[in-house]
Amino acid sequence: MTSPLFSPFTIKQITFKNRIGVAPMTRMSAAGDSIPREDVLEFLKTRAKNGAGLVYTEAIVTDYESAQGYPGQARIVNQNQVDAWKDVTDEIRRHGAVSVCQIFHCGRMAYEGINPANRVIAPSPVAPMQENPMTGAPYPVPEQMNRFDMDHVLNGFVETAKGVVAAGFDGLELHCAHGYLLNQFLSTYSNRRTDAYGGSMENRYRFIHEVIQAVRQVMPEDRLLLVRVSNWGIADTKVSLFSDASEWRQMIQLFSKEPIDAISVSTYDFAADEFGTGKTMAKLTREVTDLPLLICGKIHDRKSAQNALADADLVLSGKSMLLNPNLVSDIAADRKLSLYESEEAGVAYTATPLP
Ligand SMILES: Cc1cc2nc3c(=O)[nH]c(=O)nc-3n(C[C@H](O)[C@H](O)[C@H](O)COP(=O)(O)O)c2cc1C
Repeated sequence: MTSPLFSPFTIKQITFKNRIGVAPMTRMSAAGDSIPREDVLEFLKTRAKNGAGLVYTEAIVTDYESAQGYPGQARIVNQNQVDAWKDVTDEIRRHGAVSVCQIFHCGRMAYEGINPANRVIAPSPVAPMQENPMTGAPYPVPEQMNRFDMDHVLNGFVETAKGVVAAGFDGLELHCAHGYLLNQFLSTYSNRRTDAYGGSMENRYRFIHEVIQAVRQVMPEDRLLLVRVSNWGIADTKVSLFSDASEWRQMIQLFSKEPIDAISVSTYDFAADEFGTGKTMAKLTREVTDLPLLICGKIHDRKSAQNALADADLVLSGKSMLLNPNLVSDIAADRKLSLYESEEAGVAYTATPLP
């Protein structure tokens, strides 16, 4: 029986040959040139070759001043970096897949010394509660961003978007999820501002609006602009970043007024009941937007992928795509597949090339 997973889907002029994509995955492999290791780039090409309809890059940091939160992260603002990624997008296209570059600023999820300019900035001077696994020490209390900082960060997104366009990506995703800077603005957990960028959801959303508007201007109309959202963060993972379903819906409605082409919803488990509503995050989101939706979280075999597609247009897999090079053909053949544990994904951060 043919599965809807293997039917095409089109957003504007871009057609996905199937509904299964590689979720964005940071690899921390770049040297001083901010270009990922060759085998890490090869991994993305291999996933396209092996049938994924969509291939995301790792999250690329947007400036040299305060954006980076982990060692070995990539940038895409100079010709060498653009050339390295151009080779990847060419190859992904040759295999008939769509390429999307995710870009982000880590905000308070950074630490002393990790950025060349050595600053840690965020909407408010509030540090995550947990210790930083990278240093084993508490995260530093960030400096509160003023307008000058906000303009610099905004410019970083715009300059990086120019690099993404030059490298030939079909799409660009603004990472507004997982407790990084744009998400820090959206959530009262990290945004305690009393100016026009804090308080109501409209105010907390304001900086994201500015970033979307500025980035869209440097992107040709035929390239896709996406956003990734989540109710959970990498630090303090048990914290619900939004207070209830109505806050979530309000945020989605604000995104829906923007010149964006899709919303990617990141969850721990796509099937989970969210905010006690008895509904999944994809369903809650779909109820208030007409934008195409991507969903991710424990999608690992044909059954879970098909179920996830009930309230979304494309499904993404992280750990299963990372660890199983044949995931797409295994889903097509409906092979028995199990979920991978988080610890198994640790290999992503080693120098061991992934098949
Ligand atoms: C090694 C690794 C790196 C990740 N890096 C990113 C990232 O750069 N950006 C992002 O939005 N999510 C990142 N994630 C989260 C995944 O995109 C995905 O949302 C998560 O793994 C849940 O999906 P899964 O259950 O299919 O693994 C990462 C996950 C893993 C395993």
